[in-house]
Amino acid sequence: MNDRMATVLADIENLNSNWSCELTDEQAKEHSFGRIRSLDEKVVKLWSVPRTTGQLLKSFVIASGAKTILELGCSAGYSTLWLIQGAIVTGGHVYTTEILPDKIALATKHFKAAEVEKYITLYQQDIMQTLNQWQHSPIDLLFMDADIPRYPDYFTKIEPLLNKKALIMVDNAVTHKTYMQVFFDKVEASNKFIMEILPIDHGIALLLKK
Ligand SMILES: C[S@@+](CC[C@H](N)C(=O)[O-])C[C@H]1O[C@@H](n2cnc3c(N)ncnc32)[C@H](O)[C@@H]1O
Repeated sequence: MNDRMATVLADIENLNSNWSCELTDEQAKEHSFGRIRSLDEKVVKLWSVPRTTGQLLKSFVIASGAKTILELGCSAGYSTLWLIQGAIVTGGHVYTTEILPDKIALATKHFKAAEVEKYITLYQQDIMQTLNQWQHSPIDLLFMDADIPRYPDYFTKIEPLLNKKALIMVDNAVTHKTYMQVFFDKVEASNKFIMEILPIDHGIALLLKK
Protein backbone atom coordinates (compact mmCIF):
# COMPACT_ATOMS: atom_id res chain seq x y z
CA MET A 1 0.00 0.00 0.00
CA ASN A 2 1.42 3.40 -0.88
CA ASP A 3 1.73 6.26 1.62
CA ARG A 4 -1.16 8.25 0.14
CA MET A 5 -3.54 5.31 0.51
CA ALA A 6 -2.31 4.58 4.05
CA THR A 7 -2.85 8.22 5.08
CA VAL A 8 -6.36 8.41 3.64
CA LEU A 9 -7.38 5.12 5.29
CA ALA A 10 -6.03 6.33 8.65
CA ASP A 11 -7.89 9.65 8.21
CA ILE A 12 -11.19 7.83 7.62
CA GLU A 13 -10.57 5.54 10.61
CA ASN A 14 -10.20 8.64 12.80
CA LEU A 15 -13.25 10.25 11.25
CA ASN A 16 -15.31 7.08 11.76
CA SER A 17 -15.36 7.51 15.53
CA ASN A 18 -16.46 11.14 15.59
CA TRP A 19 -18.19 12.10 12.31
CA SER A 20 -21.96 12.44 12.33
CA CYS A 21 -24.54 14.21 10.24
CA GLU A 22 -28.01 15.38 11.24
CA LEU A 23 -30.62 14.60 8.60
CA THR A 24 -33.24 17.21 7.77
CA ASP A 25 -36.83 16.21 8.61
CA GLU A 26 -37.48 15.73 4.91
CA GLN A 27 -34.41 13.50 4.41
CA ALA A 28 -35.27 11.44 7.49
CA LYS A 29 -38.76 10.83 6.14
CA GLU A 30 -37.81 9.98 2.57
CA HIS A 31 -34.86 7.61 3.07
CA SER A 32 -33.32 5.29 5.67
CA PHE A 33 -29.70 6.20 4.78
CA GLY A 34 -28.74 2.88 6.34
CA ARG A 35 -30.52 3.56 9.67
CA ILE A 36 -32.19 0.42 10.78
CA ARG A 37 -32.84 0.20 14.49
CA SER A 38 -34.71 3.48 14.81
CA LEU A 39 -35.95 5.35 11.81
CA ASP A 40 -36.85 8.25 14.15
CA GLU A 41 -33.16 8.75 14.79
CA LYS A 42 -31.95 11.62 12.64
CA VAL A 43 -28.23 11.26 13.20
CA VAL A 44 -26.25 9.12 10.80
CA LYS A 45 -22.62 8.09 11.18
CA LEU A 46 -20.01 6.81 8.75
CA TRP A 47 -20.43 3.18 9.79
CA SER A 48 -17.20 2.18 8.00
CA VAL A 49 -16.22 -1.48 8.10
CA PRO A 50 -13.38 -2.41 10.46
CA ARG A 51 -9.88 -2.65 8.97
CA THR A 52 -9.84 -6.48 9.04
CA THR A 53 -12.98 -6.53 6.87
CA GLY A 54 -11.28 -4.10 4.50
CA GLN A 55 -8.26 -6.40 4.28
CA LEU A 56 -10.57 -9.33 3.53
CA LEU A 57 -12.33 -7.37 0.78
CA LYS A 58 -9.02 -6.58 -0.87
CA SER A 59 -7.86 -10.19 -0.50
CA PHE A 60 -11.05 -11.67 -1.96
CA VAL A 61 -10.89 -9.33 -4.96
CA ILE A 62 -7.32 -10.44 -5.64
CA ALA A 63 -7.89 -14.15 -4.92
CA SER A 64 -10.98 -14.29 -7.15
CA GLY A 65 -9.44 -12.13 -9.88
CA ALA A 66 -12.60 -9.97 -9.82
CA LYS A 67 -12.60 -7.16 -12.37
CA THR A 68 -16.13 -5.82 -12.25
CA ILE A 69 -16.79 -4.98 -8.65
CA LEU A 70 -19.99 -3.43 -7.31
CA GLU A 71 -20.43 -2.00 -3.84
CA LEU A 72 -23.78 -1.04 -2.31
CA GLY A 73 -23.16 1.67 0.30
CA CYS A 74 -19.99 3.74 -0.06
CA SER A 75 -20.25 6.17 2.88
CA ALA A 76 -16.89 8.01 3.08
CA GLY A 77 -15.20 5.49 0.80
CA TYR A 78 -13.35 3.36 3.36
CA SER A 79 -14.41 -0.11 2.18
CA THR A 80 -14.31 1.20 -1.39
CA LEU A 81 -10.62 2.05 -0.99
CA TRP A 82 -9.90 -1.53 0.09
CA LEU A 83 -11.84 -2.88 -2.90
CA ILE A 84 -9.92 -0.49 -5.16
CA GLN A 85 -6.60 -1.80 -3.86
CA GLY A 86 -7.71 -5.23 -5.05
CA ALA A 87 -8.97 -3.87 -8.36
CA ILE A 88 -5.60 -2.24 -9.04
CA VAL A 89 -4.02 -5.71 -8.84
CA THR A 90 -6.66 -7.47 -10.99
CA GLY A 91 -6.97 -4.68 -13.56
CA GLY A 92 -10.57 -4.16 -12.45
CA HIS A 93 -12.91 -1.29 -11.66
CA VAL A 94 -15.08 -0.53 -8.65
CA TYR A 95 -18.62 0.84 -9.02
CA THR A 96 -20.23 2.12 -5.85
CA THR A 97 -23.37 3.98 -4.81
CA GLU A 98 -24.05 6.55 -2.12
CA ILE A 99 -27.09 8.75 -1.70
CA LEU A 100 -26.29 11.08 1.22
CA PRO A 101 -24.73 14.32 -0.11
CA ASP A 102 -22.38 14.86 2.88
CA LYS A 103 -20.95 11.37 2.45
CA ILE A 104 -20.66 11.73 -1.34
CA ALA A 105 -18.56 14.85 -0.72
CA LEU A 106 -16.32 12.99 1.73
CA ALA A 107 -15.88 9.95 -0.51
CA THR A 108 -15.06 12.14 -3.51
CA LYS A 109 -12.43 13.97 -1.44
CA HIS A 110 -10.92 10.68 -0.25
CA PHE A 111 -10.72 9.14 -3.74
CA LYS A 112 -8.96 12.28 -4.97
CA ALA A 113 -6.53 12.34 -2.05
CA ALA A 114 -5.65 8.66 -2.62
CA GLU A 115 -5.30 9.36 -6.38
CA VAL A 116 -7.51 6.43 -7.34
CA GLU A 117 -10.22 8.25 -9.29
CA LYS A 118 -9.61 6.28 -12.48
CA TYR A 119 -10.45 2.99 -10.73
CA ILE A 120 -13.79 4.12 -9.32
CA THR A 121 -17.24 5.21 -10.46
CA LEU A 122 -19.37 6.69 -7.69
CA TYR A 123 -23.07 6.76 -8.51
CA GLN A 124 -24.68 9.55 -6.53
CA GLN A 125 -28.15 8.07 -6.35
CA ASP A 126 -30.33 5.38 -4.88
CA ILE A 127 -29.00 1.84 -5.25
CA MET A 128 -32.10 0.66 -7.12
CA GLN A 129 -31.49 3.33 -9.76
CA THR A 130 -27.91 2.10 -10.20
CA LEU A 131 -29.13 -1.47 -10.60
CA ASN A 132 -31.86 -0.49 -13.03
CA GLN A 133 -29.32 1.36 -15.19
CA TRP A 134 -26.53 -1.26 -15.01
CA GLN A 135 -24.77 -1.47 -18.38
CA HIS A 136 -21.38 -2.82 -17.41
CA SER A 137 -19.93 -6.33 -17.66
CA PRO A 138 -21.38 -9.06 -15.47
CA ILE A 139 -20.51 -8.48 -11.81
CA ASP A 140 -17.62 -10.60 -10.47
CA LEU A 141 -17.75 -9.43 -6.87
CA LEU A 142 -20.55 -7.66 -5.02
CA PHE A 143 -20.16 -6.09 -1.58
CA MET A 144 -23.41 -5.28 0.23
CA ASP A 145 -23.29 -2.75 3.07
CA ALA A 146 -26.36 -0.52 2.78
CA ASP A 147 -30.08 -0.59 3.65
CA ILE A 148 -30.67 -4.19 4.76
CA PRO A 149 -34.51 -4.30 4.48
CA ARG A 150 -34.14 -3.75 0.73
CA TYR A 151 -31.58 -6.55 0.19
CA PRO A 152 -34.23 -9.05 -1.02
CA ASP A 153 -35.26 -6.60 -3.76
CA TYR A 154 -31.63 -5.86 -4.65
CA PHE A 155 -30.97 -9.61 -4.86
CA THR A 156 -33.80 -10.07 -7.38
CA LYS A 157 -32.29 -7.33 -9.55
CA ILE A 158 -28.66 -8.33 -9.14
CA GLU A 159 -28.88 -12.09 -9.55
CA PRO A 160 -29.21 -11.92 -13.38
CA LEU A 161 -26.34 -9.39 -13.51
CA LEU A 162 -23.83 -11.71 -11.84
CA ASN A 163 -21.00 -13.52 -13.53
CA LYS A 164 -21.07 -17.35 -13.54
CA LYS A 165 -18.63 -17.63 -10.62
CA ALA A 166 -19.51 -14.40 -8.85
CA LEU A 167 -18.90 -13.86 -5.17
CA ILE A 168 -21.18 -11.82 -2.92
CA MET A 169 -19.87 -10.49 0.40
CA VAL A 170 -22.36 -9.11 2.91
CA ASP A 171 -21.37 -7.09 5.98
CA ASN A 172 -23.25 -7.21 9.32
CA ALA A 173 -24.30 -10.83 8.82
CA VAL A 174 -23.88 -11.48 12.56
CA THR A 175 -24.62 -8.10 14.17
CA HIS A 176 -27.80 -7.63 12.06
CA LYS A 177 -28.69 -11.29 11.58
CA THR A 178 -32.39 -10.82 12.41
CA TYR A 179 -32.83 -8.04 9.84
CA MET A 180 -30.90 -10.13 7.31
CA GLN A 181 -33.05 -13.26 7.63
CA VAL A 182 -35.57 -12.53 4.84
CA PHE A 183 -32.66 -11.91 2.47
CA PHE A 184 -30.80 -15.06 3.52
CA ASP A 185 -34.00 -17.11 3.13
CA LYS A 186 -34.38 -15.74 -0.39
CA VAL A 187 -30.78 -16.64 -1.25
CA GLU A 188 -31.26 -20.18 0.14
CA ALA A 189 -34.53 -20.57 -1.77
CA SER A 190 -32.81 -19.68 -5.05
CA ASN A 191 -30.68 -22.82 -4.58
CA LYS A 192 -27.93 -21.11 -6.56
CA PHE A 193 -25.49 -20.18 -3.77
CA ILE A 194 -23.40 -21.77 -1.07
CA MET A 195 -23.48 -19.55 2.02
CA GLU A 196 -20.72 -19.29 4.63
CA ILE A 197 -20.86 -16.83 7.53
CA LEU A 198 -17.46 -15.70 8.74
CA PRO A 199 -17.68 -14.61 12.40
CA ILE A 200 -15.20 -11.80 11.84
CA ASP A 201 -15.82 -8.16 12.83
CA HIS A 202 -19.58 -7.55 12.19
CA GLY A 203 -19.90 -10.95 10.53
CA ILE A 204 -19.33 -11.38 6.82
CA ALA A 205 -21.59 -13.61 4.74
CA LEU A 206 -19.93 -15.15 1.71
CA LEU A 207 -22.37 -16.19 -0.98
CA LEU A 208 -20.60 -18.34 -3.54
CA LYS A 209 -22.32 -19.22 -6.79
CA LYS A 210 -22.71 -23.00 -7.17
C1 LIG B 1 -22.84 1.05 6.46
S1 LIG B 1 -22.67 2.44 5.48
C2 LIG B 1 -21.45 1.96 4.30
C3 LIG B 1 -20.06 1.94 4.87
C4 LIG B 1 -19.01 1.65 3.83
N1 LIG B 1 -19.27 0.43 3.12
C5 LIG B 1 -17.65 1.57 4.47
O1 LIG B 1 -17.34 0.51 5.04
O2 LIG B 1 -16.91 2.55 4.42
C6 LIG B 1 -24.12 2.37 4.49
C7 LIG B 1 -24.21 3.49 3.49
O3 LIG B 1 -25.18 3.17 2.52
C8 LIG B 1 -25.86 4.36 2.16
N2 LIG B 1 -27.16 3.95 1.65
C9 LIG B 1 -28.14 3.31 2.33
N3 LIG B 1 -29.16 3.03 1.54
C10 LIG B 1 -28.83 3.50 0.30
C11 LIG B 1 -29.50 3.49 -0.95
N4 LIG B 1 -30.70 2.93 -1.09
N5 LIG B 1 -28.87 4.04 -2.00
C12 LIG B 1 -27.64 4.59 -1.87
N6 LIG B 1 -26.96 4.62 -0.71
C13 LIG B 1 -27.54 4.08 0.37
C14 LIG B 1 -25.96 5.15 3.44
O4 LIG B 1 -26.16 6.53 3.20
C15 LIG B 1 -24.64 4.80 4.12
O5 LIG B 1 -23.67 5.77 3.86
